[in-house]
Amino acid sequence: MAITVRENKFILETKNTICILLRNDKYLEQLYYGAMVPDCDLEHLENRQILNFAPYDPALGLKYIYGARLYLYSGANTGDFRTPSFDMTDGKGFSGCRFRYKAYEILPALPSDYALPRVRGERETLKIVLTDPEKRVDAELYFQTVEDCDVIVRFTRIVNRSGERIVLRKAASLQTDFENGKFDVISFAGAPGDEMRNLRRRIVQGKTEISSLFGVTGHSSNPFFLLCSPKSTEDFGECYAFNLLYSGNFKAEIDCDCHNNVRVVTGINDATFSWTLEDGECFDTPQAVSLFTEEGIGGVSRRMHALCREHIIAPKYAGKRPIVANTWESFAFTVNEEKVKAFAREAKRIGADTVVLDDGWFRNDDAENLGDWELITDRFPSGLGALIDAVKQEGMEFGIWFEPEMVSRKSKLFKAHPEWVLNNGDVGSESRNQYVLNMSDPDVIEYLYGVIAGYLSKYDIRYIKWDMNRYLSEVGSMTALRQGEVWHRYTLGVYRLLDRLTSDFDVMIEGCAGGGGRFDPGMLYYEPMIWLSDNTDPYCRTEMQFAASLAYPPCSFSYHFSKGEGTTGRHSEPFFRWLVSDFACYGYELDLSRLSEEELRACRMFTKKRRKAEKYINEGDFYRLDVDREYYYACLQVLRDKSAALFTFLQVNAQIRYESVVVRLKGLDPQSRYRIGANNQVYFGRTLEKAGLKISDLLCPHFKTKDPLRIAVEGGKSGSGISFEIERVDD
Ligand code: GLA
Repeated sequence: MAITVRENKFILETKNTICILLRNDKYLEQLYYGAMVPDCDLEHLENRQILNFAPYDPALGLKYIYGARLYLYSGANTGDFRTPSFDMTDGKGFSGCRFRYKAYEILPALPSDYALPRVRGERETLKIVLTDPEKRVDAELYFQTVEDCDVIVRFTRIVNRSGERIVLRKAASLQTDFENGKFDVISFAGAPGDEMRNLRRRIVQGKTEISSLFGVTGHSSNPFFLLCSPKSTEDFGECYAFNLLYSGNFKAEIDCDCHNNVRVVTGINDATFSWTLEDGECFDTPQAVSLFTEEGIGGVSRRMHALCREHIIAPKYAGKRPIVANTWESFAFTVNEEKVKAFAREAKRIGADTVVLDDGWFRNDDAENLGDWELITDRFPSGLGALIDAVKQEGMEFGIWFEPEMVSRKSKLFKAHPEWVLNNGDVGSESRNQYVLNMSDPDVIEYLYGVIAGYLSKYDIRYIKWDMNRYLSEVGSMTALRQGEVWHRYTLGVYRLLDRLTSDFDVMIEGCAGGGGRFDPGMLYYEPMIWLSDNTDPYCRTEMQFAASLAYPPCSFSYHFSKGEGTTGRHSEPFFRWLVSDFACYGYELDLSRLSEEELRACRMFTKKRRKAEKYINEGDFYRLDVDREYYYACLQVLRDKSAALFTFLQVNAQIRYESVVVRLKGLDPQSRYRIGANNQVYFGRTLEKAGLKISDLLCPHFKTKDPLRIAVEGGKSGSGISFEIERVDD
């Protein structure tokens, strides 16, 4: 049983972990969260520290010092000086709230009116009701487990029963306390074009904050983070990991107090949040997920990948990632009917599935027409229908680019509805020549639904690239009064629009926000893949994709084979570009008409190889392999039944001296024998794991074949590599 209630304990079990919550006289406490243990009566673990100078419950005396206890769910201004999960202002202007245990219930599923992105599937749900009896405000904590991923899912519903209006100032999704926690934290940092850098640092006394104020999760921040013991490595060590199914301003706080008690609180960023609840109303937080593993950082990644792949991304997209040919890097704003038709013919020759008409179909440059969404008929004289027919005649699907949340000053929409633009009383700043529509306004959502649904009903469009090319500023609404709610309502509006479109139409949406500016589980709930970065340099991409794999599965990030100079001007060989794009959602994004016959043939072969590899990217367990990262990257994607795997090795820096590179594989069945695709040798899984494969020997003969497609480069050179399948041999 995943959830059990035994006397005064709530027990949440996954395959390898257990979380025990204790209901004592008044409060709900976390007794233990970590590796599975057979005993639940762990009262000796209760934190009874006597802290100097610390407020306590007057009825329980020193037995209950708020600042020491691992209780849920901490309200502000109550004598617990660690980061609170909750704050509010009541009718008299008082702040704070202290929650006590009230009741529990086991439900068959989430409440049916929960409207935010969620971990999918009907699952048993533990609801624990906490209350502040004086303020008559409840915090209902909802818990679920995803056993195979070792994940606990939570959210909080705040219910106002006070008889008056209250204003929420903070309402976190998750709070977890650790007594005497000694951790490193690993989170994402970065910048546009340099997304998903992994950042590891020691937790010391004080607060560590991972957050965003961009209005989206951001290029330089992400709601995922993990806490691990300082000795943890890729393969060993205890790790707790956290993520939030949310795409707006978030805040994760890791608060280490002077007694080394570590509190983790994550949820909507309270800096841009306030929410009014009338009597009888409630507020739902986004869902947060947490997991524990003793299998190191790699163990975290595989569990998070499985969670995203199998429980967050919609099952209708499982195993389906079209090979896209996108017009942007080829034509940008000069795209026209003839070019797209020729592009489609070439795309068919190299085996792509879907032609995506990127930006430029409704405007001549980036300073006009966002919001109007009208085809430029001068450049597309036969109309969109005829263009789609031409693409379909080539046997491909058609996709189109939208940036729904934006409006240009030079547009009909801006003139007609200036009140639809985010505005806090200021004129507002432009970014990329555009303003942001107020997605918290239901009329805006209705308008955008009308426009996009109009295209989807009139034309055979199966794919949308949904872009978002600026951050939010001057956030306020000219059509609503509660300005503190606009940030969160903006995100809710985006979700509502995505929800309607993906439910009403057979369409797949690729997310993008100037690259990876909004890459999070909330978006993955609607968009099965997201353009990870506008940086298409394969050297940068190698680092970025390995870094992103810390939390997100390769089937969720798209990277297309593009031109040799990439975005940085650094030259790279086609084979290397292919190797790198091959361990993400593959596609093409370059002027295909400029490719020689030879290069087209090479691309055709890349597509073919890719189709064979698809199952590994879509379903495989991802293992980062141990190599010297100054020069190399290596990974193995192993099918769940361990029958086969895809091995990828990339060299990103030149090695002048000859160096033997032996790579030890992971994740195979030690007792089974496997055939190595590169040389047909057969070894036991255990041999491959312990003795490894000598890659330098595999690379050299492979590259000396110098086939006529000019795809090969010499072994040892920077920007080279190899990939091959490893298949179980049935005796
Ligand atoms: C963003 C995207 C690009 C492209 C352009 C079009 O920068 O990241 O891939 O779609 O917008 O304007």
